[in-house]
Amino acid sequence: MGFALFAYLLLAVSGGLLTYARLSKKPRPQWLRPFHYWVGGGLVALVLLLLAIGIVGTLGHYGTLGHSAHFAAGLTVVGLVLFSAWSATQISPKRLWARPLHVGVNITLFLGFMVVSFTGWSVVQKYLP
Ligand code: HEM
Ligand code: HEM
Repeated sequence: MGFALFAYLLLAVSGGLLTYARLSKKPRPQWLRPFHYWVGGGLVALVLLLLAIGIVGTLGHYGTLGHSAHFAAGLTVVGLVLFSAWSATQISPKRLWARPLHVGVNITLFLGFMVVSFTGWSVVQKYLP
């Protein structure tokens, strides 16, 4: 989860730099877009990994899913990350709506991360003596 939050931070910074370069009409460093893209792909992989761990671990322990709000929160975050990655692939001069969609989804994603962390933390409490 720490890696996922770190990836989110890197994406927010490199995304901010992309916006800055676009608005100030400065040429952006060549590495910036691929960097943002690859860290984005990394975030997708990390979140899917966390989802798999959560599902496999819970099934192994209880045999069923959906014990708390953490389940819904986890599914929501995974959905938002995939939606964000999809909206990023749509960004082009022909599809101007995709850029604000990408940014908007990512702001929502921040809230999603806060909710999974909070609900995840409260399920962790169950295992503490
Ligand atoms: C889920 C994985 C992600 C992928 C695959 C991805 C990919 C992309 C791509 C391809 C672009 C277009 C770059 C261009 O204009 O050439 C972009 C732009 C951008 N992304 Fe992401 N991104 C991801 C996540 C994020 C996250 C989490 C944030 C913020 C926290 C973010 C913020 C931005 C911003 C601010 C832009 C700038 C658009 C602009 O004003 O030019 N992205 N992203
Ligand atoms: C993007 C991040 C995450 C995703 C997608 C995710 C997803 C999931 C899912 C789908 C489950 C199964 C829940 C159920 O069926 O009730 C689960 C279980 C669990 N997760 Fe996460 N999780 C994430 C982050 C976290 C974090 C940050 C923590 C701890 C702080 C955490 C702790 C747990 C624990 C302890 C369980 C076992 C639940 C139980 O015993 O009821 N998860 N997770």
